[in-house]
Amino acid sequence: MLTPSYLADTAPGRGARVEPRSWLHTDAPSLSLNGPWRFRLSPHAALPEDVASPELDDSGWDSIPVPAHWVLEGDGAYGRPAYTNVQFPFPIDPPHVPDENPTGDYRRGFTMPADWPADARVALRFDGVESLYRVWLNGEEVGIATGSRLAQEFDVTGLIRDGANLLSVRVHQWSPASYLEDQDQWWLPGIFRDVTLVARPADGIEDLWLRTGFENGDGTVLPELVAEEAAFPVTLRIPELGVETVWASPAAVAPVAVGGVEPWTAETPRLYEATVEAQGETATLRLGFRTVEIRGDRFLVNGRRVVFHGMNRHETHPERGRVFDEQHAREDLARMKRFNVNAIRTSHYPPHPRLLDLADELGFWVILECDLETHGFETAGWARNPSDDPAWREAYLDRIRRTVERDKNHPSIVIWSLGNESGTGTNLAAMSAWVHARDPERPVHYEGDYTGEYTDVYSRMYSTIPETEQIGTDGSLAPLLGCTPAQGARQRTKPFILCEYAHAMGNGPGALDQYDELTRRFPRLHGGFVWEWRDHGILTETADGTPFYAYGGDFGEVVHDGNFVMDGMVLSNDEPTPGLHEFAAVVQPLRFAFDGGDLIVENDRHTADTADLALRWRVEHDGRTVASGVLDAPVVAAGSGARIPLPAVEVAADAETWLTVDAVLAADTAWAPAGHVVATAQHDLSAALPLPATVLPSGWRTGDGTLTLGPAEFEGGRLVRLGGRAVSGPRLELFRAPTDNDEGAAFSDPTGSDASVPGVSSASLWRQQGLDRLTRRLVSVEEAPGALRTIERVSAANAARTVTVETVWAIAGDALELRVEIEPSAGWPSVWPRIGVRFDIPDAGDPIAGAEWFGTGPLESYPDSMRAAQVGRYSASVADLSVEYARPQETGHRSAVRTLDIGPFALEVLPDARGRRAGFSLGRHTPQQIAAAGHPHELPETESTVLILDAAQHGLGSRACGPDVWPTHALRPEARTLRVRIRA
Ligand code: GAL
Repeated sequence: MLTPSYLADTAPGRGARVEPRSWLHTDAPSLSLNGPWRFRLSPHAALPEDVASPELDDSGWDSIPVPAHWVLEGDGAYGRPAYTNVQFPFPIDPPHVPDENPTGDYRRGFTMPADWPADARVALRFDGVESLYRVWLNGEEVGIATGSRLAQEFDVTGLIRDGANLLSVRVHQWSPASYLEDQDQWWLPGIFRDVTLVARPADGIEDLWLRTGFENGDGTVLPELVAEEAAFPVTLRIPELGVETVWASPAAVAPVAVGGVEPWTAETPRLYEATVEAQGETATLRLGFRTVEIRGDRFLVNGRRVVFHGMNRHETHPERGRVFDEQHAREDLARMKRFNVNAIRTSHYPPHPRLLDLADELGFWVILECDLETHGFETAGWARNPSDDPAWREAYLDRIRRTVERDKNHPSIVIWSLGNESGTGTNLAAMSAWVHARDPERPVHYEGDYTGEYTDVYSRMYSTIPETEQIGTDGSLAPLLGCTPAQGARQRTKPFILCEYAHAMGNGPGALDQYDELTRRFPRLHGGFVWEWRDHGILTETADGTPFYAYGGDFGEVVHDGNFVMDGMVLSNDEPTPGLHEFAAVVQPLRFAFDGGDLIVENDRHTADTADLALRWRVEHDGRTVASGVLDAPVVAAGSGARIPLPAVEVAADAETWLTVDAVLAADTAWAPAGHVVATAQHDLSAALPLPATVLPSGWRTGDGTLTLGPAEFEGGRLVRLGGRAVSGPRLELFRAPTDNDEGAAFSDPTGSDASVPGVSSASLWRQQGLDRLTRRLVSVEEAPGALRTIERVSAANAARTVTVETVWAIAGDALELRVEIEPSAGWPSVWPRIGVRFDIPDAGDPIAGAEWFGTGPLESYPDSMRAAQVGRYSASVADLSVEYARPQETGHRSAVRTLDIGPFALEVLPDARGRRAGFSLGRHTPQQIAAAGHPHELPETESTVLILDAAQHGLGSRACGPDVWPTHALRPEARTLRVRIRA
């Protein structure tokens, strides 16, 4: 038997498919066909059509829930998920797919409700099926559809029966459509969204679009109603606005002007309930009044420039995959709001339709993206790319129609996007032309249109800081990706967005503040969308039952892209990463400056004033609150500022004095309780504190180094006990478990503005140089009264470069001072991950519980991700000091520590001669152990705690898929001094 011919057909479908229309909330009767279905999986697509037959006995089949992905059901009995980014998991032979094509047959019976209007047509709606499905009702073919994340209705009026009906669906995992759905995500076949039977009353509403506009307090409703004559008269009501308009006939449907409306914006998601009552059906919508436009190089809503502080959002759930879980999605959106996210790009397909209701309601600017990506063709230089092949034109147009028509009523959607990473070509231009004709208001986006031939906004992903700056600069002819200078000039006439930036894979990204600063400086730059909101880990377990979040390769895929699917601001278990906290701090809607005794507040919001916020202040001496209150602040309008007098601050003579101002929600909102911190600023008012003089003992003579100095005991020049505990160290540590960005090699800024060697990851250079396997040789041990000094030479096997480490221990009043001088030899070639020293503290039945510190916190921070770090007094358990990234890597560094107490001993960390302070990390593993683990559960059980004091750390960057660490935050080999005073 041959594979059926429709599996080589580029047409989007066939049969009783009906025209796409809005996904409306109406009172027309409907019947959910979600629930258990009979299910049978075959490994190939060449199958008899028995699935359709009412005679077939399916009593031996399995039962599967709808909606679900079959690879996530049945404990592996139905295959496993597979993850690829760009790669196609099948030969690139369009439009053909392999015979090995997992095919799921679904069947279920249902009873036609007896009370549906007799003259109503009946539609069968599928909201999402991956990737091609063929439908039969009562043994008769209904049709075929593709477009996995697009709704499709079939007209089944002629096939449906009173009483019992049999619905059969055959779903093929691979189809020609798979070539158009090469998004960077798991391949997850099955009926994964709702299936619904919908009555279509003859005198009902076939389609409805209530476009709105807003200008200076006046709203308009531009109605478009598709309905038969029988549906009229039709009444539009907006009770809150006193609108009641009756349209007697189709010709009477006309715009309605409404005065006194409040605008809809992402900050003020004001919705007005509207009903449209036809004779046989009433639709209920929530209207948001807003006007979208491009004026010159500005993207405006209601006449004001929009700045996107956005996230790319995939539909992903650790147990359900792309099956929509409304509660989970709502919680995620509320989380976005709490972290100052104001925009969503629905990468790279329309989400479940309810998601857009939530976006309207909670308030987000949405770029709604079509279900399209053909990235795998890039590997072969875009040869045979469907985007420029007329054979696929209808498939492309069908996709964009179904995208726009389904969601056109949502005020949150302000831009349509044609898709992602599909090269360029005539079919994309055709999609754009169709959108322009259908929706004259909302601009068209597509990143791959580098030269700007058919899109309205200029969009890029991962452009570097210098390049992004060039885009913002007027009159610059500096080259833009893929453009001649002339094409670049055309692109500079448009609003610019970063549809993706700041790749949030693992520990990172760095440099969020630099991008934000550009957006403030150049009004043409409208912000962007972090890649991406959350990790796509799939909860699974090891053979011995240990649960973990799987990524590519964990299910034995033939080709896969490893943990590139774990690049979110939120971990698979919903935990926000430090990167998300950094984002929230960088894009916070209020900007503060301290000027003498005043606080200057700038409200950077689009529309909302500050009436919803209270300004709390507190003064801390060495992190302990000594005074606090609420500022008497005026309401500041969006786009303006105010100068607010600050209370008199008592500056301590012997402690650091910090003033912190928090803008907090004054009342509960739908997404956060009163008191939630929206924006923060800290002001250092410390009096100059004298730096304790370095203890420089004299009278050195060679000794055997076995002695006791204050809380420390030494044998042979090496520390063995501290504060009564066995402790070893300090040991030079130049290695950190490479972050995903350290392992990245793809990007290297051609302007040379970054720290990287083109095509080579920093981590591979570190390993080449042996930074992960340093060995040491004690060169000398000397003693002086109350002091011990050692010199060590540190290097790696087969390496000639060295680092000399001089360690001086000396009694200093009531403390023991440790000074470590780290001196690299000439010729170290690359950046270093860290310059630190490590102490190992064996548990001996009493593991270190945690740390209490005065310094920055509460979370980890790195040189290019410092904005969320606040100076204060913090404590955390050892476990809570590390972040469980999907692939273990460097984590936990707290910058600029002043004091650190870990139980048996406490450290006072002194700044170096240039005022630079060390940071610390405290965990259960060495960097080498962390680097060896692929997943958190692979980290070994250990019997000691590892304390690392870092004189310096390298920045984070986002080179996993973006620019490397900016030079000023890159750590070049250099001499460093660490100074701490230790007390037991
Ligand atoms: C982009 C792409 C995203 C994702 C990202 C890397 O090129 O549009 O879908 O693959 O790179 O994580």
